[in-house]
Amino acid sequence: MSEYFDNLTNKTNQALLKGFSSEKGILESAIYYALSVKGKRLRPLLFLTLIDAFDKDPLLYMDIACAVEYIHTYSLIHDDLPAMDDDDFRRGMPTIHKKFSEAIALLAGDTLLTAAFERISSAQIAPQKIVNIMKILTVGIGKEGMAGGQALDLEFKGDKDMILPIHRKKTAEFIKGALLSGAEIVGMREEEKTILGEAGISIGIAFQMADDLLDIEGDEKEVGKKLQKDKDNHSPNSILYFGKDYIKQQIDSGCRKSMELLKELRIDFPPFLALMEKMVYRSK
Ligand code: IPE
Ligand code: IPE
Ligand code: MG
Ligand code: MG
Ligand code: MG
Repeated sequence: MSEYFDNLTNKTNQALLKGFSSEKGILESAIYYALSVKGKRLRPLLFLTLIDAFDKDPLLYMDIACAVEYIHTYSLIHDDLPAMDDDDFRRGMPTIHKKFSEAIALLAGDTLLTAAFERISSAQIAPQKIVNIMKILTVGIGKEGMAGGQALDLEFKGDKDMILPIHRKKTAEFIKGALLSGAEIVGMREEEKTILGEAGISIGIAFQMADDLLDIEGDEKEVGKKLQKDKDNHSPNSILYFGKDYIKQQIDSGCRKSMELLKELRIDFPPFLALMEKMVYRSK
């Protein structure tokens, strides 16, 4: 199984750099750097592994997998800016605004977001599927998704009731989008997409809770970013407001719920199920 993921991750890492050079000026250098630093690549892997679960060749859809990771990388570059979470380390390396500048970090994010849609538009799939995937992803990252959730995160004033909606918007809606993009490729029916979308939201919220947990008790070296920051940042970290035990239970139940939904869909491909679990039970 680990060979399976290593192989898909290596292929993704290679494909990500396509079209970017480290020797063509500061903007491209910054993007090249951001994409070379190793992330877990969980969102593209979810998309690719779901396609494999339906006996289609995931490598044919690498443009879309890359687009998903471009969007995620853009979101992290902007999330780390001084005006947002003000972080100096990401994926074990200096953040883009530290290594380059704040202006370049803004533009690198803008460019990655734009490059994502350029890559989707050139994917070798039916034009209608391209349009549908663009719609799915824009919903996941727009005002009702990641960007909207990030704004609520910044506005957060300690109202516990806001934490779940923030987690859903800033993190889970995009994870749902990665899964539904895969559903579009394999031609799932509308009722099936609804069920898969619910699984995406459950696992996505639990994923952000796992990130919150790592901020409290993770190993900085392994996680690759500065930890124990959420408290001072007044971030909506679920552990700080609901406690570790309760959130660990919520992670378990979110994972269980998503597994039940996948069973309903008769998705039983072991790598895909293992990846869904790895989203929430992780040390980095
Ligand atoms: C971090 O995402 C941001 C969150 C939404 C919690 P990841 O934990 O997937 O980060 P990378 O891509 O592996 O660095
Ligand atoms: C970020 O959440 C969610 C995004 C949409 C980028 P966090 O701010 O908790 O992510 P980390 O901890 O910086 O990776
Ligand atoms: Mg943040
Ligand atoms: Mg952050
Ligand atoms: Mg965090």
